Amino acid sequence: MDSIKAIKGVKDILPEETPRWRFIEDAVKRWALCYGYQEIRIPIFEFTALFARSIGSATDIVEKEMYTFPDRDGTSLTLRPEGTAGTVRAFIEHNRAADPLPQKYFYLGPMFRHERPQAGRLRQFHQFGVESFGTSDPRADIEVIALLWRLLSDLALPDLTLEINSLGTSGDRTAYKPILLAFLSQHKSLLCENCRRRMNTNPLRVLDCKVPGCQAATESAPKLTDHLSSEARTHFDQVLAGLLALGIPYTLNPRLVRGLDYYCFTSFEITSTHLGAQNAVGAGGRYDGLVETLGGPSIPAVGFAIGLERVSLMLPNTSSSLRNNCLYYVAAFGEKGTALGLVLLDELRRAGLSAQSDYRATTLKAHLRQADRSKCRYAIFLGDDEAVRGSIILRDLE
Ligand code: HAM
Repeated sequence: MDSIKAIKGVKDILPEETPRWRFIEDAVKRWALCYGYQEIRIPIFEFTALFARSIGSATDIVEKEMYTFPDRDGTSLTLRPEGTAGTVRAFIEHNRAADPLPQKYFYLGPMFRHERPQAGRLRQFHQFGVESFGTSDPRADIEVIALLWRLLSDLALPDLTLEINSLGTSGDRTAYKPILLAFLSQHKSLLCENCRRRMNTNPLRVLDCKVPGCQAATESAPKLTDHLSSEARTHFDQVLAGLLALGIPYTLNPRLVRGLDYYCFTSFEITSTHLGAQNAVGAGGRYDGLVETLGGPSIPAVGFAIGLERVSLMLPNTSSSLRNNCLYYVAAFGEKGTALGLVLLDELRRAGLSAQSDYRATTLKAHLRQADRSKCRYAIFLGDDEAVRGSIILRDLE
């Protein structure tokens, strides 16, 4: 019979890799708690309307990447493509705005997007994200960027660049769009098919297109940062000054337009040259209008998410904590030894000491081979002689 394979772009994380994942997960949680963020666990699926309304109906994610399916009663449901929408929904639904602000949340878990799988791009991937609600102060933007930068630096990820831009207020973007559109119309023939189509629905995204022809064509496009209101300009300047004060290096990227529609003011991305085409390790920005768009009060917010597969790809291999090893291998043989070995294994484990054995091995030789393979630090030998004497033999396998 044909064996059933995993779905394309959906990966198993095998025991050799899980220590690496636990190492990353422990680090991100430690850093989030250190900055005063608290964990929230949101559902993996939601009503489709939540994502359409928050991420934007003319975005790639909503147009072509969501896993959407009808519930048994026909209601449209979607596997979450990201964590911001669900966090905001929960914030509103549980009336969290009635509690003292600001409130800061973090989450960790699988996300789902129907993208073309390649290195660092999966259909089920994992994000760690943070969302800070309740303040429009630029120091909140600086804080989330600092958390992102310190965390990735602590993990010793190589060659990181922080790219930053301001998307201004919604008024700034409304005023800028016809200016950009006029430019794009003049260069339409040079744009890829996708950009020619989205020119009218989502013209800002054309600036972010990765197709070399589009990048060349929009090289001299008017910049949104040259058309910011004084409110947005001041906010952006304060964010940049704060990063400078904290010694966090950044690169201005006026083309950085995120693929989600909820952003305003600060938007940022951390890239690495070690990642190939999918070079964004993490990204985020401010989304002051989203809580209100989803039916809540007017509450400003800012956050980011990182892709844990990409972090894992870049994590240096050195840390000795990246191993799964067990402490004791119990080699029990002979009639009495085998019986006592069972009790000894149980006692070690109850004392919190990791221990294992191969129940198929009946001879000392077979046990020695398995003890070696197990990579345990110690072997405990327990045969009939030891059982009678009430002793064991302990061998340091290193
Ligand atoms: P995003 O840029 O769509 O933003 O995703 C954030 C990160 O998730 C990316 O930089 C990348 O590392 C990772 N990622 C995205 N798609 C994939 C994929 N198919 N395979 C592997 N990794 C992927 C957001 O999701 C926003 N919710 C971030 C945010 C939070 N903004 C404010 N708060």
